Amino acid sequence: MKPEFFEKLKTLGTQVEDALSSCFVYPGEPQQELFDSMRYSLLAGGKRLRPVLTLEFCRACGGDVEAAMPFALAVEMIHTYSLIHDDLPCMDNDDYRRGRLTNHKVYGESMAVLAGDALLTAAFTRLCVAKLPPERICQAVEMLGECAGELGMVGGQVLDLAAEEKLCTEEEIGAIHTRKTGALISAACTLGVIAAGGSDEQFDAAARYAAGLGLAFQIRDDMLDVIGDPEKLGKNTGMDEKKNTYARLFSLEECQRKVDKLTDFALEALSAFEDSAFLKELALWLVEREY
Ligand code: IPE
Ligand code: IPE
Ligand code: MG
Ligand code: MG
Ligand code: MG
Repeated sequence: MKPEFFEKLKTLGTQVEDALSSCFVYPGEPQQELFDSMRYSLLAGGKRLRPVLTLEFCRACGGDVEAAMPFALAVEMIHTYSLIHDDLPCMDNDDYRRGRLTNHKVYGESMAVLAGDALLTAAFTRLCVAKLPPERICQAVEMLGECAGELGMVGGQVLDLAAEEKLCTEEEIGAIHTRKTGALISAACTLGVIAAGGSDEQFDAAARYAAGLGLAFQIRDDMLDVIGDPEKLGKNTGMDEKKNTYARLFSLEECQRKVDKLTDFALEALSAFEDSAFLKELALWLVEREY
């Protein structure tokens, strides 16, 4: 990876962090604990992969990156809510996330549920205040709702829980991963195209890139539960015992080959964009990510 790649990744990440840090600050309101809980998880770091994808796809389509920031923040809010709920005792029951105690460990389960609810709701308000043509905002609301909801991320989480303690086929695990993780990554990429007013061809190419990247990302996540370093990951490893993961079905070498193949598929889609060097490097970086 070229040093310019990491510089740009850092710059985009910092822009996102700065914008997130001004969210949910309401000094006169009595429900301060809710805002604290939302900000605790939202501002805990994380790779900011999804908002970076939104901003970069917008730029690759010739759009106004600043105007796309509310779309980028919206997808990160939904991602953060999904993590808070994913960690709850009734879901994956995890104690660490993004290098700190999970939300419910600090604020209690009811507040963690409500912080997730509020982040999800705020995401859609955020889309609507973007300084972009109303038809692009409508398209964004519809698409993000679909990807986050019952046919997308939430649907995938349901399948993930339902599959505990039974052995799934590769096809079934792929269907879970595509929904629970792929759908929101797809939303992140295509939100950038929508913000820029990109062509149908660019929208489809962004969705193809995301399909490869999203599944590769979750397979790598499954691998990291086995080979990862909890310090670097910011979450515990060895948590997937009951889960249907690629690492359960295949050797680590086979998993890595699948990650490589899916990444190649993602890269093929990038020919629809004039300058896609960063998106290419991003996909290649994720192949070997350690966190
Ligand atoms: C974790 O996502 C949950 C999965 C979908 C695997 P990330 O690995 O993107 O988590 P953060 O945002 O960097 O914390
Ligand atoms: C998380 O998948 C997917 C969502 C949060 C929607 P995992 O349960 O594998 O993610 P981690 O390993 O807890 O980050
Ligand atoms: Mg989970
Ligand atoms: Mg989990
Ligand atoms: Mg995992």
